[in-house]
Amino acid sequence: MPFFIKPSVTLSAEDKLLAYNQLTEAVMLQLTDEEDDILKMSTFNALAKTYLPYFYWVGFYRVNNGKLSVGPYQGTTGCLHIEFSKGVCGKVARERKTCLVIDTHELVEGTEHITCDAHSRSEIVVPVFNKTRELLAVLDVDSTEKGAFDDTDATYLEAIMKELFGS
Ligand code: SME
Repeated sequence: MPFFIKPSVTLSAEDKLLAYNQLTEAVMLQLTDEEDDILKMSTFNALAKTYLPYFYWVGFYRVNNGKLSVGPYQGTTGCLHIEFSKGVCGKVARERKTCLVIDTHELVEGTEHITCDAHSRSEIVVPVFNKTRELLAVLDVDSTEKGAFDDTDATYLEAIMKELFGS
């Protein structure tokens, strides 16, 4: 594992709720009146890495001419482009709903899942819509721990994306 990136630290259900409430407060405090998408994505990533120790890779894949292209992220090198037909990110872009992956090793590599880092073991991907419900991007989060993500992550991340980008 790269020396500058540490393995995920899982949280109890109670601590996860506390962390998400702190993240939400920090996002609202810093980004409420901001309009620049790249600024909001970049700052969200930094705040998410600050409060959620099981976020190994966190970032955005932006809709770009019918495919997904990597945007602001924090973590090891992410793949640059993803076709809508490929990976968890492509599935979320197609279906426009959040996808929770308990164990990435259970997915078919190259079609159902694209491995950007061998240390990633669970994943959540959330669609990001603008104010007219167009798909702007997907938020992709990986953890080195199996089963790190659950409905609490989905609920809070969807709410924060709605607050930041639109609907
Ligand atoms: N795992 C994602 C690809 C992005 S890397 O994890 C950053 C997918 O299957 O779409």
